[in-house]
Amino acid sequence: MPDLSPLGEKAFAVPALLRPDHRGELREVRGDAVKPYCERDGITIYHGDSREMLGDIRADVLVTDPPYGVGFQGKNTKHTSRAKQGYISGDDAEVGPHVVGIAIQSVIRGLVFPGTRMMFDYPKPYEVGCVYCPSGAGNGRWGWTVFHPVLFYGKAKTGGSTPAGMESFALAGETGHPCAKPVRWMLWAVEKASLQCEVVLDPFAGSGTTLYAARQLGRRAIGIEIEERYCEIAAKRLSQRVMFGAQL
Ligand SMILES: C[S@@+](CC[C@H](N)C(=O)[O-])C[C@H]1O[C@@H](n2cnc3c(N)ncnc32)[C@H](O)[C@@H]1O
Repeated sequence: MPDLSPLGEKAFAVPALLRPDHRGELREVRGDAVKPYCERDGITIYHGDSREMLGDIRADVLVTDPPYGVGFQGKNTKHTSRAKQGYISGDDAEVGPHVVGIAIQSVIRGLVFPGTRMMFDYPKPYEVGCVYCPSGAGNGRWGWTVFHPVLFYGKAKTGGSTPAGMESFALAGETGHPCAKPVRWMLWAVEKASLQCEVVLDPFAGSGTTLYAARQLGRRAIGIEIEERYCEIAAKRLSQRVMFGAQL
């Protein structure tokens, strides 16, 4: 076969792309590192580590539910879905504050579910709200907790004319993820944080509840998830009209 390239193969060799990772060390970014795992109806899922991918992604609003650092090894908590195993990759306590600290620098607004134990490790929020769960939200050292804190970054799109929280008895239902959030919570969160024209980012997408809610509300959204198994669940949820495992 004739060589159609007058310069030979070397002319097409692309130099390695180097980017700083979460420790500031330069790493070679693989060609497929920023390829979407799935794209559908304005929603894109990336499979990878958000600490390394955030720099490649542009979004307007952060809505996320990072790992709580409590280790979900077989535990069930109220309102989260049930799974016999915990996270496949463990439940790193530091990754949430780190990623949120970076992400809020490039978005207009942010809404984060930090968990009660971790909430003081996050960058100082502009405001605090909650999902009030009168039936209990998990075990605490002074009794069972009755709320999930919500941290708000940036100014509210409504200028503060709607409640900074909601009451809920909802359960997430079975999704195959150890701590999926109820769809109703993420519908509230996406609506609270974003305008119709804005792109929502969830760097800890899990089973895709934020992405599903964004799609329901007509928002474009981007999710990053480190575990391929959860990307698969999220992609499957997005391919269904009526979501399984959802209790509004
Ligand atoms: C609390 S769960 C999110 C659950 C999600 N809200 C849902 O409803 O399914 C946090 C997720 O972050 C993922 N994760 C942990 N570290 C990550 C990282 N460095 N980059 C991307 N995802 C990560 C975990 O695998 C887990 O699925």
